[in-house]
Amino acid sequence: MKRRKVIIDCDPGVDDGVMLALASAHQDQLEILGITTVCGNQDIDKVSRNALSLSDFFGIEAPVAKGMDRPVVREPEYAPETHGEDGIGGCVLPETQRTESRENGILFMQRILKELEKEEKASIIATGPLTNVALLLRIFPETADKIREIVFMGGSLSGGNVTDAAEFNFYEDPEAARMVLQSGVPLVMCGLDVTEKCTLTRKQILKMCQWGSPAAKLCGDMLGYCLENSSEKYRGEVSVHDAVPVMYLLHPEIFEGGHKILDVDCSEGAARGAVLGGFRWWKNEAEDTNVYVLTDVDKDKFQEYLITSLYELAQ
Ligand code: BDR
Ligand code: CA
Repeated sequence: MKRRKVIIDCDPGVDDGVMLALASAHQDQLEILGITTVCGNQDIDKVSRNALSLSDFFGIEAPVAKGMDRPVVREPEYAPETHGEDGIGGCVLPETQRTESRENGILFMQRILKELEKEEKASIIATGPLTNVALLLRIFPETADKIREIVFMGGSLSGGNVTDAAEFNFYEDPEAARMVLQSGVPLVMCGLDVTEKCTLTRKQILKMCQWGSPAAKLCGDMLGYCLENSSEKYRGEVSVHDAVPVMYLLHPEIFEGGHKILDVDCSEGAARGAVLGGFRWWKNEAEDTNVYVLTDVDKDKFQEYLITSLYELAQ
């Protein structure tokens, strides 16, 4: 089977970490060309170090390049309350011998896309603020033709998790989100509407820690940190937001969604980072819209496929 070429742009991040484990477990289907990092859950140095050690630990050989250290316009705001001061819930990983690519993340993505064969395209999986992706498309607009689609975790049609209105990745860099939404590249939005349904329970997380597999234990420990320390403790389940874009590429049949015309609130008001979209259903033909939004998932299947993948990665 021909593998789908992907570039992963992320800010690890506990759930970004589980996303890397899931992607690693399916390298027979996903050819990971490179990993870029963006500031978000923690500062750029921390998330880049995490991306290197996590990808090494999970068995991804693709190079890692450091991207933007701040949003396009705003000052960064990190998320230690969910991911810890180190971004991975205090979990200790073996020292990695690998080092980051010397190229800047945006130039690295541009080069990878440029080097693809004439008819080839790559998908971008984005699980942090969209800063790198937006700047890539703005500085090198010709790269749009080499991108098959951007499947991103971000946004929400149904309220936020960092404010009442906004999801974290869109809140962190709303201008970047707007640039990507207006880019004309095929987009799949995995926002809170679907990712809040993609949870693992306390029991499932505990089991992962007990399998005797280092990879599954690391995922369990990281998710366990969120379960004990973030607002997730109130419901006893953890949303694995960032695993959703990868799961969508592997198993689109377990998701439901619809085509929409969306924008982002870039004001400084209460709705900063909120997704703007409406019920203009007469415009919601695929060709008139700018994004395919996931709205529902078969939760049992999501859990089954995620857990099985982590288990298999451990073998
Ligand atoms: C998103 O915000 C981050 O904290 C997570 O890693 C995920 O990408 C969820 O809103
Ligand atoms: Ca993330």
